[in-house]
Amino acid sequence: MKSETACLHAVRDTTHSTGAVATPIYQTATFAHPAFGQSTGYDYSRSQNPTREHLEKLVAALEGGSDAIAFSTGMAAIATVMELFKIGDELIATEDLYGGSIRLFNYISQKNGIGVHYADTANLAAVKALITDKTKAIFIESPTNPMMLVTDIAAVKELVKGRDILIIVDNTFLTPYFCKPIELGADIVIHSGTKYLSGHNDTLAGFAVTAKEELAERIRFLTKTTGAVLAPFDSFLVTRGIKTLAIRLEKAQQNAIGLAEWLKKHPKVKSVNYVGLPEHPSYELSKRQGSGFGAMISFSVDTAETARTLLERINLILYAESLGGVETLMTYPATQTHADVPEAERIARGIDDRLLRLSAGIEALEDLIEDLEAALA
Ligand SMILES: Cc1ncc(COP(=O)(O)O)c(C=O)c1O
Repeated sequence: MKSETACLHAVRDTTHSTGAVATPIYQTATFAHPAFGQSTGYDYSRSQNPTREHLEKLVAALEGGSDAIAFSTGMAAIATVMELFKIGDELIATEDLYGGSIRLFNYISQKNGIGVHYADTANLAAVKALITDKTKAIFIESPTNPMMLVTDIAAVKELVKGRDILIIVDNTFLTPYFCKPIELGADIVIHSGTKYLSGHNDTLAGFAVTAKEELAERIRFLTKTTGAVLAPFDSFLVTRGIKTLAIRLEKAQQNAIGLAEWLKKHPKVKSVNYVGLPEHPSYELSKRQGSGFGAMISFSVDTAETARTLLERINLILYAESLGGVETLMTYPATQTHADVPEAERIARGIDDRLLRLSAGIEALEDLIEDLEAALA
């Protein structure tokens, strides 16, 4: 079954008998037992709820995973996965990571005794140099947020062959519609379901998708214990969002290509980072390890003043955090998504006061260009 069909039909709800085409919202905290010592299969919604279960099966099917666990946010998914590790374990993480993940690793994981080392995971030699007997996982974001660096996931997997090291990939930017990291060797795939999967900027969600059942069981135990599960109504919203994932992503990508080409030619734009531009250093790798480039762009303008006025003047495009929804959004990583990253580190990675990040939505490209043209005038 092709991905666009799978988004609609990979999982048919068999938990009810009405024939409802849309998944019902089981807005219940608990479930009555039919008799002493018996269960309907559902006991308490922190452990499982039919609406969430439907969505989890759908996301697992799309990613080609053994299971998927749905969380209240993407950060809750990452924080729960980090509970797999113990004091003294070490993690190697992509250095150009979403700022919230860096905050979690630096302020919580390290406090809990887990060593986190950052590397440009696109550079295999840099990753190899950090691997020790204590390394228990490599946490990859690809393309990265916000610099759009791409990691060769299969090559990293090859690097850790024979070792007990988990490959964890944050696939938020590409989604299983464009890339399936488990096919490339990932053990766990992370999503901020807040983004493309739900797709309408109207709910928060997160996922951990596992390649193997044993890992799923461990994460389910941790999730049941720590409790940041996705609520029934939010599960319904994400299931509904996934129905249009394919057409939203195709249109958003088409807009991103058009915007990147247009931005490249603008005299006030000094550089454009978009994986779908043939001159992007990882254009060929992206084509090899996925079927699309996504719709995230970052770009540098000539001065900090231009960046500030652009954000003040955009009208159709919204100056707002987040990404992956139907509306085109623009953010200022230096003070928003990456505000907690130490300044020197941030600037060294190119996240300075001239950098802007754009998440292309599904509006008419002409309208988006008109908005940017007026804002950059
Ligand atoms: C790549 C990436 N991973 C994880 C997250 C965290 O997800 P959430 O905001 O749903 O907690 C984000 C949020 O922006 C993100 O961009």
